[in-house]
Amino acid sequence: MPGYPVLPEGIAYGGDYNPEQWPEEVWHDDVRLMREAGVNLVSLGIFNWSLLEPAEGVYDFGRLDRIIDLLDASGVKVDLATPTSSPPVWFRKAHPDSRLVDREGHVIAGGSRHSFCPSSPHYATAAGRIAERIASRYASHPAVVMWHVHNEYGWANAQCYCETSAEAFRDWLRERHGDVGALNTAWGTTFWGLTYGSFEEVEPPRVAPVGQLTGLQLDFARFCVDAHIANFRRERDVIRRFSDLPVTTNFMIPNCRPMDYWRWAGEVDVVSNDHYLDAARADGHIELALAADLTRSVAGGRPWMLMEHSTGAVNWQPRNLAKRPGEMRRNSLAHVARGSDSVLFFQWRASRYGAEKFHSAMLPHAGTGSELWNDVVALGAELGKLGRVRGSRVEADVALVWDWESYWALELEWRPTADLDFRERVEAFYEALWREHVTVDFVHPSADISGYKLVVAPSSYLLTEASAKNLHRYAEAGGHLVVSYFSGIVDENDTIHSGPYPGVLREVLGLSVEEFHPLRENETVALGDHGLTGRIWSERVRLAGAHAVQDFTEGPDAGHPAVTCHELGAGAAWYIATALDPSRDGDDGSTAPDPSRDEDTAPDPSRDEDTALDSSRGSDVIPDPSHDGDAVSDPAGDGDAALDPSRDGEAASDPARDGDVAEGRDSHGLPGAIHDGGVAGGRELRGVLRAILDRAGVSRPRGLPDTLEFVRRGDHVFLINHGHEPVTVRGVSGTGVFDDAEYPGPVTVPPGGVTVVERAGGA
Ligand code: GAL
Repeated sequence: MPGYPVLPEGIAYGGDYNPEQWPEEVWHDDVRLMREAGVNLVSLGIFNWSLLEPAEGVYDFGRLDRIIDLLDASGVKVDLATPTSSPPVWFRKAHPDSRLVDREGHVIAGGSRHSFCPSSPHYATAAGRIAERIASRYASHPAVVMWHVHNEYGWANAQCYCETSAEAFRDWLRERHGDVGALNTAWGTTFWGLTYGSFEEVEPPRVAPVGQLTGLQLDFARFCVDAHIANFRRERDVIRRFSDLPVTTNFMIPNCRPMDYWRWAGEVDVVSNDHYLDAARADGHIELALAADLTRSVAGGRPWMLMEHSTGAVNWQPRNLAKRPGEMRRNSLAHVARGSDSVLFFQWRASRYGAEKFHSAMLPHAGTGSELWNDVVALGAELGKLGRVRGSRVEADVALVWDWESYWALELEWRPTADLDFRERVEAFYEALWREHVTVDFVHPSADISGYKLVVAPSSYLLTEASAKNLHRYAEAGGHLVVSYFSGIVDENDTIHSGPYPGVLREVLGLSVEEFHPLRENETVALGDHGLTGRIWSERVRLAGAHAVQDFTEGPDAGHPAVTCHELGAGAAWYIATALDPSRDGDDGSTAPDPSRDEDTAPDPSRDEDTALDSSRGSDVIPDPSHDGDAVSDPAGDGDAALDPSRDGEAASDPARDGDVAEGRDSHGLPGAIHDGGVAGGRELRGVLRAILDRAGVSRPRGLPDTLEFVRRGDHVFLINHGHEPVTVRGVSGTGVFDDAEYPGPVTVPPGGVTVVERAGGA
């Protein structure tokens, strides 16, 4: 890979720098303050096109020359952008046929960025030309260490429905299907008599009166991804003519649904990602962890770069909450823990005008007299001590299946229930595993999964026969597979696999599904006799090799299997036929106080109220004192309660949990921990998964509260406390990276705090 890592040493720290919004005298202040904050990398020139090329073919690089030289003199390196996400006004005027058209046929106005058709040949020419000018001019500038092509492909113009796009789509279809007969077969066009006589007759899936061919919609979604990738490749290849520095473009994993980042993964030299917390969510730090794990997985496990996040509030959500004290630090270090070699923000200095003037920045409107600025400086100093983590890897025993095509397909119109939601199910499983302190990778269902102890497919509605075989082979070879309802239903064209549901998964799961019984809104059904509750979905499962672990005891499928297990030699395949909630111990991370600030040590009651009112998470919001006790004391008294058994031989040192497992297998063959409704956090999905994790031999820290994020990256252990109470973690010994203290035994992480321990001797 060309030239990665980008900096001679250390974690990259900085952000988007938009000096063109400021008079030049401010630039000198900027670089002085960047040095004070420990900034070593900025992304420059992202929105500069109209300044660099004020009229077609007329260039002015004076300002960019001066700022790059100034940064160079100050030792700040540059991630140099091509400005092609925001074409100049003259471009739009000169090429009206390059304008973006939405699904309803509206021509989208200018006065904003991303307002162009991704298939426009005029755009391709103009973007290629400016990229060439920039690359040839700055390729050997000593400040430039990497290239930042465009900005967030597909963020606001993922799909364009203009005639130029329609023509390009037809060419793409010719390439994919070969002849129109094959297209008709793939899309099932005999339905409603929608057969095409030629490719010329195909239109993009513009607004239709009623349900539209789903094959058409899926192929259009794929085509749109490829149109953006083609734009990226053009610029990347232009740059490569002049430079062998790494080329990236900033992804938006997982919050840009139209972009299939598995398709993008091989295109960039280093994966970089932008991530913004959803301020409406009390558990935003779990979604952040999911995003970081998915980004690492898209990067193939290699280190990646956090290209943007925020120091505080964004400006584009309905309610833009400032981050709580300590939250920026926790967020930043969580990204590093999960594989990022950079902590970069949008943006360096807060804008005074334009659409984003209320967005936080490293240097806020309040200036250097602010707590935020102090935090930015402190974070820079801490990251300076974390350099040895760079390049190291995160290893995971568990993988979650994530497929953007399944995401798209599941959410097309006319499904059995409007409550089917790809993100909801993936996040439920992810949260349950996060709260069990299990770090996961994400995988495409066709990927090599043989190295994982457990693979979970939470929402694999669209699953090709080849991918299903991959999952089957995995379980047969001794792997442990968990599949959630409404998976394995259709192929890549959204055609139902033949025979009873779940088509291509019937054999591996050892069952079939005779009828779906989606539940009414807010309806629940009980299963088992240990307090498990299903939402959204029930269905009639017929066993064919699998055995029932839990039956529905209520609802349309009462007396029939709800959780099943199919033993396959050394491996097994489980099936969960309803939506179980992850359940939590009780403390809510978003309210973690900053112990260094007196006024913040008390929980924020307004936030607590929000949490308590969140009925979807409902039953476990009251903290369980018995569990907190486990967190701060070592019930086994052996000083090693939190250790990972695979690494230290402490296979199960939490008596409470050991007791569950020691109950043995229940009458249906699953280890007894599935019955641990009495243990805090053990109900619902967590309880089910805990039993399966044990069966699959997945080691993990024991006896910790579920607000403590525990991640191992190479020789470093990151302990991030999202809760209100101090947490003592036993069995992690080594050197504290931030305080240089030796930790021979227990490490106590303060509320809201982060401790990073580098293990002695790199063991
Ligand atoms: C990103 C974008 C930045 C800025 C930021 C604000 O999506 O790349 O340019 O707009 O959002 O949160």
